[in-house]
Amino acid sequence: MASVNEMISEEQLRIRVEEISHEIADGMGGEDFTIVGVLKGSVVFLADLMRALHRRGLCPEVDFLTVSSYGESTESSGAAKVLSGLHQEVTGKTILLVDDIADTALTLQHARDHLLSLGAREAYTCVLLDKPARRRVDFTPDYHGFSIQNVFVVGYGLDAANRHRCLPYVAELKEGDGAE
Ligand code: XMP
Repeated sequence: MASVNEMISEEQLRIRVEEISHEIADGMGGEDFTIVGVLKGSVVFLADLMRALHRRGLCPEVDFLTVSSYGESTESSGAAKVLSGLHQEVTGKTILLVDDIADTALTLQHARDHLLSLGAREAYTCVLLDKPARRRVDFTPDYHGFSIQNVFVVGYGLDAANRHRCLPYVAELKEGDGAE
């Protein structure tokens, strides 16, 4: 049995997403950009971020990529692969790649390289959560919400074998120490 313990509250998420939208609005320097979300974990964060960006006067286009990651496991396979692609041309565009978490960062690095190989002019990265202790590649996201310890987290879009994605807060998933 697994237990789910709240780690980042709805209110903390709301405040931090607003702050990140400020950072992005300032940092992207008024440049036009397209958001590319990595499915499926980014969707809740991305939806809140888009609305926060709108409050800053920004309304970027949005597209999505699917990149293979952990499957049903909580361990990275060590290789990332783009499984389904963009619906729009990215040649010459500035991209803000949005994902739920940078863990090993293999996914984000691979997705960023993929966008650049398609001709994107720049590909900045934004994650809700950063777990630097688990890095397997030298990668620092341009924007991040919270830096977290090496624990497995779920909620606010993040899942464990497709469960817990709908939780409105981020929680630590602990295997084998209590009722679910
Ligand atoms: P990395 O950075 O290792 O992450 O390539 C790939 C994808 O794995 C998922 N991931 C997690 N999902 N809790 C989750 O629910 C976690 O602690 C966690 N760590 C990684 C996530 O979808 C990420 O995009």
